[in-house]
Order: sequence, then structure tokens, then C-alpha cells
Amino acid sequence: MTEQYAVIGHPIAHSKSPQIHARFAAQTGEDLRYASILAPLDGFAATVHDFIAAGGRGMSVTVPFKEQAFRLATRLSPRAQAAGAVNTLSFSGSEIFGDNTDGAGLVRDITQNLGRNLAGQRILLLGAGGAARGVVMPLLLENPARLVIANRTAQKAAQLAAEFARLPGCALPLKPEGCGFAELTFRDVFDIVINATSAGLQGSDLAIPDSLFAPDALAYEMVYGRETPFMAQARRNDAHVADGLGMLVEQAAEAFLLWRGIRPDTAPLLHELKEIRGA
Ligand code: ATR
Repeated sequence: MTEQYAVIGHPIAHSKSPQIHARFAAQTGEDLRYASILAPLDGFAATVHDFIAAGGRGMSVTVPFKEQAFRLATRLSPRAQAAGAVNTLSFSGSEIFGDNTDGAGLVRDITQNLGRNLAGQRILLLGAGGAARGVVMPLLLENPARLVIANRTAQKAAQLAAEFARLPGCALPLKPEGCGFAELTFRDVFDIVINATSAGLQGSDLAIPDSLFAPDALAYEMVYGRETPFMAQARRNDAHVADGLGMLVEQAAEAFLLWRGIRPDTAPLLHELKEIRGA
């Protein structure tokens, strides 16, 4: 019998997830349907329960419901626990399992698709909101030389770094540092700079120094589908620039793996999406 999956969010019309998962299903020969569901802002849990009652097996969760999905889950993966947010739900009997594949998607895009090692690298993570929190643990597990979390509001970066410096039950190899943008000086140089702020969505510049991009640095913008001021600044400083399209596809592949036990090959889809964008 065809098994049912869906992405849930508000708004949802823009989501590329149905297209991505339909491609994964066709490629792997898995018998599934993947729909998109607009949940009312005050009706997330009820919509999930309706989907489960109708036989749904799993859901991708997008804005603004990732924290609510975290609270709704009856069991959490360690990476969802660390992220404080859930982007993938899997249903089995009365269990609602919550996972977070965003950080794994980012790491996979950087290491596999962009061919950049994270081990031994100096990493700067810009932002201290939900998007930043979701990727801290997966980045630390790659054994970077340094992970600095910098945010417009310094206090939030310090708090986030402190949280990951003493994560219960998880011996992370490195303690992240936290600071404000204003504390990044010409002495701070990074091999990988990841923008996890939402400034790009507003078209806003980030008040970060040009000097922080090391020669051959990778600048990774988590937003996709537009040229942001962060990307423009990185280009002016001769950094290699990537947007979040690869992360989107890789986090979906990771969810597909959780649900179906098969990892789809993301290369053909990524190639096609990049061609469409370049056209
Ligand atoms: P998300 O889930 O996308 O991370 P969020 O939790 O609201 O959304 O966090 C937004 C992040 O983008 C924060 O780190 C925020 O910085 P502040 O903590 O100082 O608010 C950052 N941000 C948003 N607009 C920004 C801007 N114009 N310049 C710099 N940082 C910005």
C-alpha cells in the first residue's frame, strides 16, 4: 500500500519538499506519496494528529512549527534534543519520533557536495536563533579547530555557546566560543563562515569585518534562491560562495533515509535545480 508523507508549515505553497521527495521516491522505487499541508497557526498538533489518524507515516516540519514539533514528539533523537527543534517526524503506533536533519544536511552539503573538510577548520557561525542552534552540534562533531558563534545581540551568542559547552550526556570535542559582531576583530580569520541569521531575507548587510575571510574561505549562506548582502560581501573578499539549496536537498535526503532506510542520491536533483537557477 502506498505510504503517506507530507510537509507541514504556514505558509507552505513555496515549499520545494514535495518535488524533492517525489524525485527521491522515483529514484529509489519506494512506494510513497508526499503532500503539502497548510496547518492553521493555532492548529499544528491537531493537524498532525489528523494526518496520523489517516495513516500518515512521517512529516517534514517547516516554519513556524519546528519548536512545536519538538514539544509534540514523544521521543527525540539526540540531535533534535540539542537543536531544541524538530524538522522531521516519524510515526509508529502511538509513538511520535522527532528528529532534526538540518545540521546533518548542512554538514553533508559542505563536505560531500562542496568538497570542504570541516575537521581542523576555523568555523564562524553567524546568528544565534533557531537556524544557528540546529547546526551547532553537527558542526562540533566534525572536529573543527575552532567554532565561534557571533551574533548581532552578543548576549544570545554567549548563551548559546555556553549551552553547548556543557551538553549533558554528550562529550563534544570542542567548546564553542560566543561573541557579538563588534567583538570580531582583524585577528579573527575563518576558513568557513556560515550565515545562519535571517538578515538575508530582509536584504540587510551584516556588520562583520571584511578581514574575517581567510584566503580560500568558504562562505555559506543558509538562505537560498537569492543573492544576499552576505554573499556579496564574501564575493568581494574572494571567498567561495554557496547558498542553502544543497542543505535543503541534503536535509530532505536525511529525512528520507530515516523514513525508508535508503539514502537517495542527491547529485542528479541538485544538478538539475542548479541548472534551472542558472538558466
Ligand atoms: P531563525 O529561526 O531563522 O534562526 P530567529 O530565531 O528569529 O530565526 O533568529 C534570527 C537570527 O537572525 C538572530 O540571530 C538575529 O540576531 P539577533 O539575535 O541580534 O536578533 C539574526 N538577525 C536577524 N536580522 C538581522 C540583521 N538585520 N542583522 C544581523 N542579524 C540579524
